[in-house]
Order: sequence, then C-alpha cells, then structure tokens
Amino acid sequence: MQQPDPAALPLERKVSLLSGGDFWSTQSLDEAGVPAVVLTDGPHGARRQQAAADHLGFHASEPSTCFPPAVAVGSSWDPELAARVGEAVGREARALGVGVILGPGVNIKRSPLCGRNFEYYSEDPLLSGVLGAAFVRGLQTQGVGAAVKHFAANNQETDRMRVSADVDERTLREIYLAAFEHIITQARPASVMAAYNRINGAPASESTWLLTQVLREEWGFEGAVVSDWGGVGDRVAALAAGVDLQMPGPDEANDAAIMRAVRDGVLEEALVDASVRRVAALAELAAAPVVERVESAGHHALARKLAADCVVLLKNDKSTLPLAEGVRLAVIGEFAADPQFQGGGSSLINATHVDSPLEAIRTLGHPVTYAPGFTTDGTGDPKVLREEAVRIARGVEVAVVFVGLRGESEGSDRAHLDLPADQVELVRAVSAVAPHTVVVLSTGGVVSLEGWHDDVDAIVAGWLLGQASGGTLADVLSGAVNPSGHLAESIPLRLEDNPSYLTFPGEAGHVRYGEGVMVGYRHYETVGRTVRYPFGYGLSYTTYRTDEMSVDVTGDDTATVRLRATNTGDRPGKHVIQVYVATSAGRVRRPVRELRAFTKVGLRSGESRVVELPLERRSFAYYDVEGGRWVVAPGAYTVQIGESAARVVAEQTVTLTGDTDVTPLSLDSAIGDWFAHPVAGPLLQEALMAGATEEQRQQAEANSDLMEMVASIPARQYLHFPGVPVSTDDLTEILEATR
Ligand code: BGC
Repeated sequence: MQQPDPAALPLERKVSLLSGGDFWSTQSLDEAGVPAVVLTDGPHGARRQQAAADHLGFHASEPSTCFPPAVAVGSSWDPELAARVGEAVGREARALGVGVILGPGVNIKRSPLCGRNFEYYSEDPLLSGVLGAAFVRGLQTQGVGAAVKHFAANNQETDRMRVSADVDERTLREIYLAAFEHIITQARPASVMAAYNRINGAPASESTWLLTQVLREEWGFEGAVVSDWGGVGDRVAALAAGVDLQMPGPDEANDAAIMRAVRDGVLEEALVDASVRRVAALAELAAAPVVERVESAGHHALARKLAADCVVLLKNDKSTLPLAEGVRLAVIGEFAADPQFQGGGSSLINATHVDSPLEAIRTLGHPVTYAPGFTTDGTGDPKVLREEAVRIARGVEVAVVFVGLRGESEGSDRAHLDLPADQVELVRAVSAVAPHTVVVLSTGGVVSLEGWHDDVDAIVAGWLLGQASGGTLADVLSGAVNPSGHLAESIPLRLEDNPSYLTFPGEAGHVRYGEGVMVGYRHYETVGRTVRYPFGYGLSYTTYRTDEMSVDVTGDDTATVRLRATNTGDRPGKHVIQVYVATSAGRVRRPVRELRAFTKVGLRSGESRVVELPLERRSFAYYDVEGGRWVVAPGAYTVQIGESAARVVAEQTVTLTGDTDVTPLSLDSAIGDWFAHPVAGPLLQEALMAGATEEQRQQAEANSDLMEMVASIPARQYLHFPGVPVSTDDLTEILEATR
C-alpha cells in the first residue's frame, strides 16, 4: 500500500520527525508508515548501547567485534581492507537492529596532538577520502547507512563545541573538505554529521554555504544531515542551513521554535518538508530485516587478519624481524599482557574477545619470559619493575618491549608527543643489555621516537589494532604476516616542526589554520624539514622494485601512469604504490608534491606486475578562490612514484594544456592582469601607446622595472596617474571587447 507523504501531515506531526525520539533513535510517524531508525556509534564496531542516555562510553554497550580503528586502517593504504571493515561492522549492526553507523570519521590530522586522531585516517585528504568511501560502500552493502563525520574542519578536541576554525577557502576545499567531497560523490553515504565547531565564525551546523551550497548543490548530496550530539545551538538557523535531524531528542522547545518560525513566515515550510522527507528516507534503513546474530569467532579472526595489514614496520636493523625460529625472548611491558587496542569516548566498543599479545607470542614456540617493566596506573615501584625487566632481558637473544599510551580519548587533546618517561627509560635500559631489542608501539597517534630510536634494532608501529591486536602483532613479529602498512601521518623529530605548532589549539575561541594547505608532509617536504619518518613510509620483510614508468596525458588534462612493480625479495608481500604530483604551475603556492593516486598490490616472491593508475583532472588542479572553481594551470607537472613523500624513486614530467580561459577582468583587476589577458592586453597596450613616438615606444619597452611596479595597481586607480592617456570609458570599451 502506498504510504502518505510524511510532509503532507499537519505541521506539528511532521516537525516531530526533525529531532530524535531518544538518545539513539529517530521518532516514528505511524500515520505515514515511517519507522524509528537506530543510529549508533562505531565505526570500527557497532556500539549499540544498553542504557539510553550517554554518548561518551560511560554505559556498557552490547558486545560487538572491535575492528581496527581508523588510525590503523589509514596505515593499511588499502581500500579493500576498509571496505571489509565496513561490511563486517554493517553485518553486526544489522544483527543489533542498527540502521545507521555514525562514521566514518574523515577529519584531517592537522596536528598530531588532536585527541581523536585515532578515529581519523590521515593527514592527507586523498588517502582519507578513498578509505572513507570504501568503508561507506562496504557498510552500505549491508543495508546500513553511514553518517560521515564531522563536517567540517573539526580537527581538535580543545573547546570542540565552540572553537572557530579560521580557514581560508582554498585550504578548506583542497584539504579539509576534499575527503568529504570524494566520499559523497563516489560512495553516496546515507547521512553526513555536521560538526560541533564553528568555521570562520559561523557554527558548522548553521552554515548554509557548507550544508546546502557546497554539500547539496555542488556535490549532489541527497541524504540526511544529522547534527552531532547536542551540537545544535539555534535550531531554526540550523534547519534553514541544512541540518535535517537534531540528535538526540525529543526536543519540544525546538519543535515549537520551528513551528513558530514557519507560522511567522521566517522559515519556509518547504524547507521543513524537504528535511522531513530526508529523515523519513533515512528511517527506511530501519526496515531492513534484522539478521541472525553474527558468529563472533569468525569476526574475531577477520579482525586479526585485517589488522595485520595495518601494522607499520618503521625500523628493522640487522634483520631482527621476523623473529628467528626458537630464539629466546623476553617479552616486556604492560601492553603485552593488557593491550591498548582502541581509544576512549563515543567510539568505545565492548569487544567480544581480547587477544593478549603475550599469550599469542607464547604460542609461537619460543622460550618466553615476561616482565611488566612499568605500570600505567602508578602502582608498583618503577625501579623494581625496571630492574626485573632488565634482568630477564640479559639472558635472552631478543627483547620485545611493548610500550604505548593509555587514555587517548575523545574530548581532550594531547599536550605533547612523548611516551611516558618511565617507558622511555625502560626501553633504554633494556636495549643496553639485550642483544637485540624490538619496540612495539600501541598508540592512537604519533609519538616521538627521540631519545631511544637509535638504541633499538626494530620498531613496530602497532597503532590501535582492534580486539585481535595480540594475535596480529604475533603474526607480524613471527613473519606469518609480512608487514605492509605505511604511515598515514608524518612522524616529526620535534612537535615544534609541525606546521600547526604555533596555532594549535588556538586562543580566545579561534584557531587559525595559518599554515594553509601546507598540512603534514606538504609542509615538511616544501620547506625541506627532516622528519623521523615521512608520510608514506613503511618497511617490509621483502623488497620491491619500480621500473618502466610512463605517463600518458590522455587529453582533457587527465593522465594514466603505468609502471612495473616487482617483488625482488624472498617472501610474498603487499606493495603500496604511491603517486605524487609536483608542480609550481598556477598563481598559488603549491606544496612540493601531493599524493594523487595509490594502490596496494599483492606480489609473490619474484613476481612482476604492470600497474596502471588514472590521474584525474583534479590531480593537477588547485582551487581558485577568485573564480570559485578548480583550475588546472597550463604548464609542467612532474608525476612521481614515491617510496614515501620524502623519497621519489621514479618520475616523469608532462605538459598540460590546462585551463586557458582566464578569470574575467574588471576595473578593479590589476594592470598586470590586464596585460596578461589575451584580448585586453594588446588593446590596452595599444591605447597606452596611442600617439607615442617611436622613441617613447622603445623607452617603454626597455623599462621593464617600471612595468613590474605598475603591474599590481588596480586599473581604476592607474588611470589617475599623471600622463596615463587612458580614460574609464576606454577601459570599459576594452572590457566590452573581452566579453
Ligand atoms: C561525537 C560523535 C558521536 C556522537 C554520538 C559526539 O560527542 O562527536 O562523533 O557520533 O557524540 O555519540
């Protein structure tokens, strides 16, 4: 039976749909056949809460598999992996009766200190966008909608509900909106979550520019915009700007405000109707049949397998890893027995099962001794703990030290990049006596490796790997899995080197994104700042070669990169191919290189494969703020294959025709722009030289310094300099000729 249009219901009834029914679901409208749909957190699991009111992880939630969080998935550089996480979370969500998962989080890691970096993929928008889109696709194949968050410029926790991210538009478009744009245009998520913060003074949830003009009109988003929890200040303004659903709810006061605004003619009823229809469409996700409970052992095994490809091997001197068969091991560090596998806050998953690295290592067949080495809760005597660890490290061939961070959580930023001092001391003390030392890091974000990096033989960045992290780490240490992760964020030598250092997290309610587009590696590479490990870096137990690179410009300023990748080592592996574009074309400052394509290919030992990667027009473009459009500047572009953002292994330069049409001139355009214009330039030249003698003409031509001086003068003002023989009418006439 055809259901009535919910927007045709009486105002009061339909408005009720625009705020939640409770903390985690929408209201139903029985008379229009609209069910209530459940929205829950994740996104690296399905966090269906048992108690109603709480979104920061205080109340327990139903058990569900904790898959690797975004910090790990980002390091996989593998969209297929991200899709499988999405699909598995979708299956569990369905089993729990959840229609919308609040994620993925695709905010850019502007500062390594952001407290929610473990929920985000990368400092690079392409990597974030491609992985986010894959997750959304995987999730939505299960009939569960994604709510991509937090839209936008939500890059810190300090003052997160009020701070204004002050960002210029080019930076917004190229860095902070780009991942969202990719996901919305490529993967059609059911929903987008508006961020808490302000952007250039205006609350993100009240920005018509952001939520309607850019999101809907430019990118074609057709889903529902949901507020962040408690993120609506002025409900009428938020609705007018494009927030369809306020969560949580119900909120009778705001419903009344909306009705008043409609009745007073302040808010068009058509806007209400559009939002009602979108929320009703979202609620259709409730209708998908609830699947049987998911078999948790299978998903645990999947979590282990997926996490393995997220681990980044940072250092491996003397081929310390993989562990040689039967070597005597000292496993040290509290994190070995009690792993940190996820962060805190709204994404906290009630894991179905947790693998301990220590137990998993014990199954590998090595003689193993264990000492905690430190505690993170302040109990125990640090000296005694350290001495015990040093004692067991003395008698073995390899010491594996598990260190990391506790307490990384939504709601607060970190104050520095350091590991706790007692852990650093432990690493140094152990490495002084052990023949070989391996450090395994469990952190949701980058930590400083200084002060101990050179003392150890191997470093494994295990991030937060989800509930199977113990088994995963054992797989990597033993060589059952060949590590294939690469850094999704740079590891600087000092926090002070990070481009956001001077402005993060802002002051007096504002955080100025003064570094512009020079975020992360874009900054380090452009200014030539050495980092400990660059974006894109990651070792393997095998080696790869790249050759036979070619780039074909395919017309329309797109290109295809072709290359041959070979596994030159003696074990199978997964190789990440990173394509960067370097250019100085155009009238804006370009980063020295930017990631523009990537892929991950599995290669057996000795296997060679030809790989093709398309480069779209956007790969070469910058956002032209004056013209309000993406521009490919005519000129030279060097396509580079990087082992990381800092090391190019092959490159080729191509020339692009680019956009030859120019920004329209006006009387306020600079004289330099007038001269550069293909039609106006010669006409203006002619007008200026009218009546000049040959000698004067030659003088003018010779005097190029003067030309540079006048180039920046607006045409309107230039006319008034003594001796300029051109009037406003003349310029207007030339302007006509350019149209
Ligand atoms: C977070 C969101 C989350 C929501 C619901 C907010 O505090 O910013 O990411 O989805 O709570 O728990």
